[in-house]
Amino acid sequence: MVDLKGKTALVTGATGGMGKEIAYALSKLGMNVCVNYSSEKKEREAGEIVRGIEKCGTKALAVCADVSNSQEVGAMFKEAHARLGSIFVLVNNAGIYAAKPGTPLHEVPEEEWDRVMNVNLKGVYLCAREAARQMIANKGGRIINISSVVGLRGSRAGAHYAASKAGVIGLTYALADELGQYGILANSVAPGPVKTKLLDKLNKTDFERMRRETPIGRIATEKEIADAVCFFAQTDIVNGQVMVVDGGRVKH
Ligand SMILES: NC(=O)c1ccc[n+]([C@@H]2O[C@H](COP(=O)([O-])OP(=O)(O)OC[C@H]3O[C@@H](n4cnc5c(N)ncnc54)[C@H](OP(=O)(O)O)[C@@H]3O)[C@@H](O)[C@H]2O)c1
Repeated sequence: MVDLKGKTALVTGATGGMGKEIAYALSKLGMNVCVNYSSEKKEREAGEIVRGIEKCGTKALAVCADVSNSQEVGAMFKEAHARLGSIFVLVNNAGIYAAKPGTPLHEVPEEEWDRVMNVNLKGVYLCAREAARQMIANKGGRIINISSVVGLRGSRAGAHYAASKAGVIGLTYALADELGQYGILANSVAPGPVKTKLLDKLNKTDFERMRRETPIGRIATEKEIADAVCFFAQTDIVNGQVMVVDGGRVKH
């Protein structure tokens, strides 16, 4: 396992439910963390996470950038490199859900398709591209992409969301093939349902159904997703894999 102490991580969407847990979990492994947030509205929250990490003894930096905007992503990686050093772990966590879950494909407006693809898939490409440049120069790194079980098995939640997450899985496989030669490993965590803001359009009955369908009788927590990310951050051999974290609903 890799000793991550003193190395740098960048977590996108780090003010979100999973992102925050992932940022804290990596800092507990001794990493300095660049905390990405999406807009000025989240500046205060990002600052609190930075202070929380610093209290635990590692460095942190909050950077505002829309992951679907190549200029903002480029500037974020430049700033992170200048202030915290070269990125060793990138966690592509930022993501958005269908505006109206359950809308069939033939009713999904083109702008909504583009919105979901731009954040969930193009955002992963833009961040992985910037990270790969730093990691190749440094001969090592870990890229961890948060996909979803719906990227493996489809979903009635929204074809565009499922397609974007299937794209993230395909991109992870390609990155593993291309970057392994530089000591860069790429893997994906595929969560099942987790009770975060992302699923705030689902109601109590939806969650109860999902709980009943789960062999262990409960859905995963943000902390359990972060644990899977930490495994991929530390491994020296696992590459090009998708780890389903959902208590056994989806077998992969
Ligand atoms: N919750 C689940 O059941 C579940 C299941 C499978 C996979 N996932 C995936 O897990 C990841 C984390 O989701 P979550 O459940 O923690 O949801 P969340 O609490 O809504 O967090 C998502 C984060 O992404 C950020 N974000 C959205 N658009 C962005 C952009 N253009 N640039 C930068 N950041 C952006 C959000 O910022 P704002 O709040 O400012 O928009 C938020 O901080 C997502 O990729 C999601 O698709 C979630």
